[in-house]
Amino acid sequence: ENKPIPFEAIGEGMLHQLVDAFYIRVAQHPDLAPIFPDDLSETARKQKQFLTQYLGGPSLYTQEHGHPMLRARHLNFEITPTRAKAWLACMHEAMDEVGFSGPLREDFYARLIFTAQHMINTPDNDE
Ligand code: HEM
Repeated sequence: ENKPIPFEAIGEGMLHQLVDAFYIRVAQHPDLAPIFPDDLSETARKQKQFLTQYLGGPSLYTQEHGHPMLRARHLNFEITPTRAKAWLACMHEAMDEVGFSGPLREDFYARLIFTAQHMINTPDNDE
């Protein structure tokens, strides 16, 4: 029996809208903006590629950049619990904005919570 592929159910159009809405929020978030580049267009392009394969679509990210090794790629940045919460809050708001709802959203968001926790590499009270 074939399981539906989340990427196909969500659709490329919705996924791209979601990523764009997400980085508009990241750019405005006081906890996140300082660690991101001023121009987020390349970051957004890579995130569209990554989330496409994360959701079972074609391996666009790996084809261009190699194995994601996401935690390793985040080690250059101080990812604190506060920043993980902020990242997830931006994503939650972006999902609301683009009208992404239902079980597919819940499953996707639950996976993002797990992945975001995994990226944490610095305690909050580090300063
Ligand atoms: C890249 C922050 C969680 C996927 C980045 C970059 C930063 C960052 C600062 C570099 C941007 C650039 O230089 O273009 C964070 C923070 C997170 C987080 C604060 C909070 C937990 C996640 C999660 C995912 C993710 C949960 C995936 C579901 C990516 C990808 C890239 C990236 C695919 C591009 C990597 C590359 O350069 O090829 N992130 N991130 N991040 N992040 Fe995150």
